[in-house]
Amino acid sequence: MPLTGKNILIGVTGGISIYKTLDVISALNKLGANVKVMMTESAAEFVSPMTFEAMSKNPVYTSLFDKKNAWRIPHISLSKEADLIAIIPATANIIGKIAGGIADDIVSTTVVAATSPVMIAPAMNTNMYHNPVTQRNIETLKSLGYLFITPTSGVLACGDIGDGKLASVEAIVEAIKGQLLYPEKDLLGKKILVTAGPTQEAIDPVRYITNHSSGKMGYAIAKAALLRGAEVTLVSGPVNLTVPSGAEVINITSAKEMYDAVMENAENADIIIKAAAVADYRPENIAENKIKKGGELSIPLSQNPDIVKSLGEKFGGEKVLVGFCMETEDLIENASKKLKSKNLDFIVANSLNEEGAGFKGDTNIVTIIDKSGNKTDIPLSQKEDIANKILDRIK
Ligand code: PMT
Repeated sequence: MPLTGKNILIGVTGGISIYKTLDVISALNKLGANVKVMMTESAAEFVSPMTFEAMSKNPVYTSLFDKKNAWRIPHISLSKEADLIAIIPATANIIGKIAGGIADDIVSTTVVAATSPVMIAPAMNTNMYHNPVTQRNIETLKSLGYLFITPTSGVLACGDIGDGKLASVEAIVEAIKGQLLYPEKDLLGKKILVTAGPTQEAIDPVRYITNHSSGKMGYAIAKAALLRGAEVTLVSGPVNLTVPSGAEVINITSAKEMYDAVMENAENADIIIKAAAVADYRPENIAENKIKKGGELSIPLSQNPDIVKSLGEKFGGEKVLVGFCMETEDLIENASKKLKSKNLDFIVANSLNEEGAGFKGDTNIVTIIDKSGNKTDIPLSQKEDIANKILDRIK
């Protein structure tokens, strides 16, 4: 589990979105982290510390004083053992206190004593969030190295609509994971364009030609690159996956649309990774109405643009170009041919014949081949881990 051995201290302050903090803790536990919780008095008005105790499987701290163990000074011991402190949700009050150096409860005092990174996930009414004093406090803290998880926009607990909604559980967990696993952000400043998922080629208003790609491989690459600090543009075919927080996502349906989106955004990218499974052919004509039974049974096809080949012709040698290759026979031989003919820097070869590899699942088995023919075999692993190995190799 990726967060095994990591100690995360969650500071909970009083806001209606506090219920999401429980889901964050549950997700972090599942990733192997040891999670401890400290709560302000107002937070305990919303949800009982007992609930957090059950969820985190650790004692919850609500006071600066531990009367049972007077020798133990909670705010010092908690701050010392934490690899990361995350305040979820963070009210305008706690942000103001931290920015002002005030230490008058367990959360603010522990933060003053912190030696680990401190991450803050604000949640409050939109007017409170946009109040110049709150914004000034946020800017002050950012300039001091505090990390912020930007709130989203939507309907707030008070009924107002606007910014100030606590970021999604997934975005918070990803941000914490990224900070703990890649504190150095080794891809900071790099712009990466990733394609993912299948394309759909319409036959008529009802039917289309497609393939089994789920988008998981491409999305895993996008997520890993974001965690490592890259700026990511994700050109995605129709998939059923959550958008990686922080990525610019361009949704497309057909290969022609993917071609246009990739070509429009390629100029701005340093690295282009084509994990999508693009349909090589499309129906020559799209029937205006649903094709009736008993009519013409053959569908004439036209060839789709070869996106990765066009990239190789235009940007080969200038940008890092990475293709994928999915085969059912002669994997390495065919992948090596594609690497050369498309003028790529790397090709990631995966086969449908190996169990746990290829479409749909959470795992893959790949061989990364570079321009000189060097091969790196990555055995059966989670797509997330394969994504990081591909990024390591590119680096
Ligand atoms: O999405 P998942 O369910 O997680 O599955 C992952 C995956 C199997 C789709 C992925 O790992 C993968 O192998 N993607 C490429 C599949 C494929 O289309 O392979 P190919 O050998 O047909 O294409 C070679 C390369 O050319 C690919 O980078 C492809 O994106 C690109 N291509 C193909 C056709 C085309 N018209 N334009 C292209 O750019």
